[in-house]
Amino acid sequence: MKNKVLILDFGSQYTKLISRRVRELKIYSEIMPFNVSIEKIKNFQPGAIILSGGPSSVYGKNSPKIESGVLKLGIPILGICYGLQLIAYFFNMKVEPTKKREYGLANLEIIRTSKLLKNIKNNSKIWMSHGDKISQYPKDFIVTGKTKNTEISVIESNKRNVFGVQFHPEVAHTQEGEKIIYNFLFEISNLKPDWNMEDFIKSSILKIRKSIGTQKIILGLSGGVDSTVLALLLKKSIGNQLIPVFIDTGLLRKNEHKDLMNKFRNQLNLNVYGIDASKIFLKNLKKIRSPEKKRKIIGKTFIDIFKTVERKTGKINFFAQGTLYTDVIESSSVSGPSAKIKSHHNVGGLPENIEWKLIEPFKELFKDEVREVGRELGLSEIFINRHPFPGPGLAVRIIGEVTEDKVKKLQSADEILIEELNNFKIYNKVWQAFVVLLPVKSVGVMGDARTYENVAVIRMVESIDGMTADWYPAPYDFLKKVANRIVNEVKGINRVAYDLTSKPPGTIEWE
Ligand code: XMP
Repeated sequence: MKNKVLILDFGSQYTKLISRRVRELKIYSEIMPFNVSIEKIKNFQPGAIILSGGPSSVYGKNSPKIESGVLKLGIPILGICYGLQLIAYFFNMKVEPTKKREYGLANLEIIRTSKLLKNIKNNSKIWMSHGDKISQYPKDFIVTGKTKNTEISVIESNKRNVFGVQFHPEVAHTQEGEKIIYNFLFEISNLKPDWNMEDFIKSSILKIRKSIGTQKIILGLSGGVDSTVLALLLKKSIGNQLIPVFIDTGLLRKNEHKDLMNKFRNQLNLNVYGIDASKIFLKNLKKIRSPEKKRKIIGKTFIDIFKTVERKTGKINFFAQGTLYTDVIESSSVSGPSAKIKSHHNVGGLPENIEWKLIEPFKELFKDEVREVGRELGLSEIFINRHPFPGPGLAVRIIGEVTEDKVKKLQSADEILIEELNNFKIYNKVWQAFVVLLPVKSVGVMGDARTYENVAVIRMVESIDGMTADWYPAPYDFLKKVANRIVNEVKGINRVAYDLTSKPPGTIEWE
């Protein structure tokens, strides 16, 4: 067995959080859909398995199940919420709907100490979210924890190496949650904490050298932290065989291309090919309104332009992308019964028939882990803390058709927002902040004249990995200043609104 954890996903909104918590404890973890074959599980060689929560009921028609053999592999298993009920189902315990769905905080009473609840304070707060519960004392398991409403909240079987909790140890509301996961990984599964970014870098360099050999690899820089860190990693691995390209799509922030070209060359010592393709992107986007179509067209245009570089550099064999774990999850629904949200440019927006072989060294990392890799590689905090910027750029922040005029308007409004974020020292407090331009006009009055112009929306969110996000409660004086400046300084915008939508149910970008 290897020092890593497999998380089987039954559709809980918290599944990715489980993965993060495990990695925070320095154990590598991966999420797979609940119905992955037992062969694949064996090949992965996990040192422990966690069954996530999920919205279903184990007795429900078509409820997600695993092959029963998974529970008999001898690998330590922890079931969380639905995962616990699934264990109960397989070991013939009775599971019944609760009278009232239990949602929110409860106190965990420890009935007897155990490996799973070792060093846990009695009566600590836990987060419950379930409609079913185990309603009969199990035979081969001991019950170690209960709450006022849920008599059987924690079950354990040392003999079978199977454990389960009705609540969610992975969420921050569960006070002792990290300790419970710690106990499962280290006291029960005997794993050794070894997942760190230094080792990740070392092993990635070896892998990259092995795959690329003496051939060339092209990398599109976006100015965001992922592709910048990737450029440093590739350069360290294979030196000048890396061909870094920074395309001006015309859809970047104001002056971004010039500023960043300087920084890449002078601060990071990267010999970047700069290409101005703004006219081509605008032309290709003409009359296009659908967000998904925009993404696909932009993805294809990127590749067409990258191809022109090959004429100057000679044969290129590989294509690098800073795809993150979260991109993979959101774009292709690798993990269970969740829907595809967006074709992120990093993954789904690219045409299928690229001749180059794709290399994605960060495919297993979360954004904060990439930032950690950047720090290890000596990247300055200015780069590390830059807000994420989507590959399709301002095209997905101009709702409806993209035109040069709209891009200019948005760039000017966006520049004001960023300036004031820095003036008010808010830039580093938020995950992302930007302006969206709506194809909606509203009436206003300026001086003594009537205006009839566009509406702009300020979007600011806090997040840890972009998978979930909360709108940021920005100070009123800051909002007042930004709104005032936009309306006064940007011709064509006469009204500013603030977006109060979290993710879910919204997404961060508007398209
Ligand atoms: P959403 O809008 O899906 O965004 O909640 C989550 C994070 O991903 C970024 N994003 C993209 N990044 N290509 C990218 O490279 C894309 O097409 C794309 N769409 C969204 C977004 O800015 C946020 O950080």
